[in-house]
Parts: sequence; structure tokens; C-alpha cells
Amino acid sequence: MNLKDMFINFFVSKGHKQIPSAPVVPENDPSVLFNTAGMQPLIPYLMGETHPYGTRLCDYQKCVRTNDLESIGDTTHHTFFEMLGNWSLGDYFKEESISWSFEFLTKVLNIPVEKLAVTVFEGEGNVPFDETSYQKWLSLGIKESRIAKTVKDNFWIAGESGPCGPDTEIFYYKGENVPDVFDPEDNMWVEIWNNVFMQYYKDKDGNITDLPKKNVDTGMGVERTTAILEGVNDNYKSSIWKDVIDLICKISNLPYEGNELSMRVIADHLRTAVFISADPAGIKPSNTDQGYILRRLIRRAIRHAKKLNIDINSDWEEQIARVILDKYKVYYKELEDNYNIVLDVLRNEKVKFNRTLEKGLREFEKVATKDIDGVTAFHLFDTYGFPIELTEELARERNLNVDIEGFKNKFKEHQELSRTASAGKFKGGLAGNGEIETKYHTATHLLNAALKEVVSKDVHQKGSNITSERMRFDFSCDHKLSDEEKTKTEELVNKWIQEGLEVRCDEMKKEEAIKSGAECMFIEKYPDIVTVYSIGNVSKELCGGPHVKNTNELGTFKIVKEEASSAGVRRIKAILE
Ligand code: ALA
Repeated sequence: MNLKDMFINFFVSKGHKQIPSAPVVPENDPSVLFNTAGMQPLIPYLMGETHPYGTRLCDYQKCVRTNDLESIGDTTHHTFFEMLGNWSLGDYFKEESISWSFEFLTKVLNIPVEKLAVTVFEGEGNVPFDETSYQKWLSLGIKESRIAKTVKDNFWIAGESGPCGPDTEIFYYKGENVPDVFDPEDNMWVEIWNNVFMQYYKDKDGNITDLPKKNVDTGMGVERTTAILEGVNDNYKSSIWKDVIDLICKISNLPYEGNELSMRVIADHLRTAVFISADPAGIKPSNTDQGYILRRLIRRAIRHAKKLNIDINSDWEEQIARVILDKYKVYYKELEDNYNIVLDVLRNEKVKFNRTLEKGLREFEKVATKDIDGVTAFHLFDTYGFPIELTEELARERNLNVDIEGFKNKFKEHQELSRTASAGKFKGGLAGNGEIETKYHTATHLLNAALKEVVSKDVHQKGSNITSERMRFDFSCDHKLSDEEKTKTEELVNKWIQEGLEVRCDEMKKEEAIKSGAECMFIEKYPDIVTVYSIGNVSKELCGGPHVKNTNELGTFKIVKEEASSAGVRRIKAILE
């Protein structure tokens, strides 16, 4: 029997009801992106609401913690993990909680007492030393030297405010010769279980008050504990990961030894991506919130797959995802229900990133001769789809710094523009930031300029829409374009492409931009500082980008359709070949 089933059986035998795992994306709590602990979906009940299943609950909860992505790659951290938990909602308290944890560890899992140590809350401010827990551990046979009284890490709260309380943490010694005195800072001691005695509420100002009831909230990490039980000193060598790692070895034709970091990142990130994209919330990779985390995870996994020389165009990610889906769908029905959605999400994001990854890496190599400034970091993000964290990671590998503040400013400015754009207020097409979309974006400016020369200087943009397949451009014009006008427009755009005109981006005050003659549709919708893109001296427009650096990157421009859009507005559909 595996750990999850043993845990649930045990607590059910102690009068607990098993509750289903909540989705990874919280259903009613916009303050957090993901559930980070088993207690998160239970907050209303810890605060006093009556739970329909009663006062003793247990479960395994899917958790996602991505605040420290860079630590992924070591032996014990994961972005996704399962947390086993048992709760008392105003029912039992410290004594029973500690006895049952001890019983489960020593009698069910058969861990020798000599391998265990605990911490208890030493007392701080108005919250006193946890004498009850201390005495309880002693009575169960934990030696005094194996009980550390600390304040650090012994008061648990999810975030800044909410239900909270002192806790007692249980540690296991990984090595052979267990030292007599327990040192919580020695990382041979691994924390496996945390029992929180939630009797307080901390408000936003830091005031601590009593909760209506005294609760227990515990959490045990499935991955760590499984590794311990199986006697491996690397979580990825346990039965939870072994099949995934073996598969990565097979796909890459490389051994685990020597390639641990990349293999762990791929295994970890793809598993998390599977769970996020299978969630009922329907998250898709994007540039905000959960979608951005999902995007980062997939892209980071791809980069590490590349490091292992895996053929990115093969179905490597699908093979790995299938192993994960098949293993977990027995426990989590949404993996079964959304099996194909998950595979689609991974594949689509891969295709999208893969289109620009090579070029982005080359671009990075070019600029990585010195610290990376904000504009360059934004360019990598915008044009090549490099999440800022990826740029940071690449920079770190070369001992370079990245100007994160500069990047953030650039990003904010871009967001303001995109927001206006997506509200349909002025030219759209900012949504897709892939390489192809970027080219179409620049071609749109050229077409706008060409129509002004060929058709009339009164031509103005009325709308635009870009997909990776084509561009669509609406403009004011009182007549159907003649064949000659179309041909001339096409020729002019292609002439500018062949001339290899430089695309320049300047920031300036809005008024200055207007004075300099820059084109724009709805001036009042722009922020005070705007970005102006100039192409050689043929075009100048207020625009959020992204754009290519030189028109010679565009290929051949071709008008495929010209038609009426609405009264006084014509529409051109065009492609780049
Ligand atoms: N909520 C506690 C934790 O996550 C059990 O450690």
C-alpha cells in the first residue's frame, strides 16, 4: 500500500472523514494563485464555519508553490507536491494530535524512534512556550536532546494574516549515525510533518486574537516521506519519480548521474504543468497570474530538455506527460477528464516557444557581453518569449546581472498599451507576441505608410488584427482599391522590406510624439510617456510593439484580399511569405 492510502486509512480509523482534494487553483480566494497547503481550502472552517463532513477531516491535497523556482533541481523541493493532512475543527487538540502522529510514524510506517526529532514553540510575545506539546513528546519517548525549543519556523500562518498558531515539527534523520543532539539547522534532519495548533487569528495589522475554536492542522509531504521510507537520499530516486526520470534518460539517451539538474527540472515542471492545466479553472499559458506560472514552467522545462539535446520537435513532452497523467489519474479525476487538454496545452506552448527559442538564445548570446539592461530583457521577453526569470537564469549562468526594475517599467508600459489595445480602443494585435506576429506587426506599419503614399494621405488606420497566419488592416478610404493601387501598395511595402530599414524605438512625452508627426489612433488612450516606433524615415507611429529590428526580416508581403469593412472603411488581408 502506498503512503497516501496508509495515511487516509489510519486517520479514518481515528474517526476522520476523508475529504476530496480541492483544485490547485483556489475557487473562492483570489488572494493566492494556488493552494499552497492542505489547510487553504479549509480556512472558513478553521475560522468557525461548520464543515459538512464534521469535525475530524483528512485528505491529500494538491499544492503548488512556485515562489522559489530556482531551488528546483535540488533533491527535496518540488513546485507541485501532495500534502497529507488531518484536521480537528474544534475537536481534539495537542495531545491526540501528537499521539496519532507518533503512532502513525512508528507503528504504521515503522520508523524507529531513534530516527526522529521534534521542534516545539519556545514562546514569543503573548504566545507562551508550548509546554503541553513538549511534555507529550517526552511522554512518548522522544529524548530531551531531540526536542528543540525554537521560535523560528514554529509559528505557522499561510501568508500575512489568517488562522495561525504555534506548531510542532517532526524531523527524520537521513543518515546512519544519528547524532544525539538534534540540530534543526542540520539538513541531514528532514522535516516530514508539521502539526499546527490553530487557535489564533492574525489580522492585517498583526493583532493576534483567539479563534472561536481550537483547531489542529497538520501537513506531511508525500514526496519527502516516500523518499525516506524507501531509503533514498534523493526524492527523484523514489518510486514517485523513478519512471519519469527513467523515461527522460531514455528520451535523451543520457544517464541521470551528471544530468540531475536538468532532469529534475523537466520532471518537476512538467508534473506541475500537468496539474495546473488539468485543473477545472481551465488555465492556459499566458503572461499573467497562473497562466504565467504555467508558461514559465513549460518554457523552463523546454530549455532544460534542450540542454540534454532532446529533440524538442519530437513528442518528448507528451510521452512524459502521459506517464504522469496515467499515474495520478487514479487519484485525481480531472486528469482523466482533461487528459487531452493537458497534452494540447503542453504541445501548443512548446510549438509557440520553440519557434523563437533558438533565435532568442542566439540573441541572448549576442547581448550577454555585459549586464542585461531592462530594455534588452524586455526585448527578449517580448520578441522571443523569454520569461524574465529565464533571462535571469541565463544571466546567472554567466555571472551577469539583469536590470529587473528596468524590465518591470518597460513591462508596465507595455501592459498599459496592451490593455487599451485589447479593449479595442486602438490597434490590436498585441496579444500574440510570437516571432511571426511581431513581423506582421511591423508589416502593418509599413502597409499603413504605403497606403498613405499610394492611395491618399487621408488614409488612417481604423483597426488591425494579427494572427500567426495573416494580418488584417482596416483603414479609412472612400473607394474600392483598384488593381493598380493594390499592386503599387504591395510593391512599395516590398521595396521598403528589401531596403533593410532599421526599426527604432524611442520613448517620449505624448505631446512631443504628436508634434513630431507620429501616427496614432486614439491619442487620449495613451499614457503620458509613449513608445514611438520609426521605420527608416517612412513610418512613425505610437505603438506598444513588439517589432522586428530591421525590415529585411519580413520576407515578401502579399495582399490576399481587399474588401469593404463598413461605410468608408476598407479592409486588407495580407500575408508575409
Ligand atoms: N499548514 C501547515 C503546513 O503547511 C501544516 O506546514
